[in-house]
Amino acid sequence: MIVGFFSDIHANLDALVMVLDHLRSLEVDALYCGGDIVGYGASPNECLHIVRFAKGDKRVTRKSILEILSTTDLQEPERLVKFLAKTTTVTGKGNHDHVAITPGAEYLFNSFAARAILWTREEITPENVDYIVKLPMAIDADDDGRPVKHKKSKTVLFRLVHASPHEPERWHYLLNRREIERAFNALDVGFCFIGHSHQPVIFEQHEDGYVEVITEEEHVPSIFRRYIINMGSVGQSRDGNPKSCCATLEFTPGFRNLMIRLHRVSYDIPRAAERIIAAGLPEELGGRLLHGI
Ligand SMILES: [Fe+2]
Repeated sequence: MIVGFFSDIHANLDALVMVLDHLRSLEVDALYCGGDIVGYGASPNECLHIVRFAKGDKRVTRKSILEILSTTDLQEPERLVKFLAKTTTVTGKGNHDHVAITPGAEYLFNSFAARAILWTREEITPENVDYIVKLPMAIDADDDGRPVKHKKSKTVLFRLVHASPHEPERWHYLLNRREIERAFNALDVGFCFIGHSHQPVIFEQHEDGYVEVITEEEHVPSIFRRYIINMGSVGQSRDGNPKSCCATLEFTPGFRNLMIRLHRVSYDIPRAAERIIAAGLPEELGGRLLHGI
């Protein structure tokens, strides 16, 4: 079984399409999105439509998805549409999704982010607002990669939150030991997948509580340790590498042969930057994509 994870799309259609096609090529069995579908980028409705289609929202048609895909470099778009239609896809809520539908909340953002979110608020359709409102803050999944609805009856394999398992609604950044330890203290499952900082990394908590920071692309986890995995950002890398990020968790029945992988995916970055400039968003938001900062 392979579960695919992606987060922080930030309305970057060109990046989202290539990440989803990469996960399709790996034949993942389920898809989990960590939120921040919107903000910064120029294609919020298009990205929301793709995520809603993957979730099985009948109001989004195949035809509309093919039309959206036709504006990108994707080869064989029908292949991706077929994959999205058949693959279980679950999405959580990010802070940019929250602020996009919460007038006044943009005071939390720096000026570029605030300008982009005000633009986004004007752009997104009422149907997409309705979808964002209902996104959950945290999702637990079982060892079939399916979301767990009634916790007591199922074994939880992993949790998905946008920022931190500690007070997910307060969007803590796991950028220092104190916050990372708080996050592990709040975690009662073995694996937690997060986004938010746009920095792909694996935090491994040893049996004695020590937390090791792992930046390798592949890691074999131990069932005696716990993990918080930051899957990085689809649409706005910030680690100096402009390629998109996503992650996978592989396992065979009984939690055997576990493997965590952090992936990087190429996409048409100049086109994404052009879309930002054409939309009248701050040019800096396009420029930073080219450098992954
Ligand atoms: Fe983000």
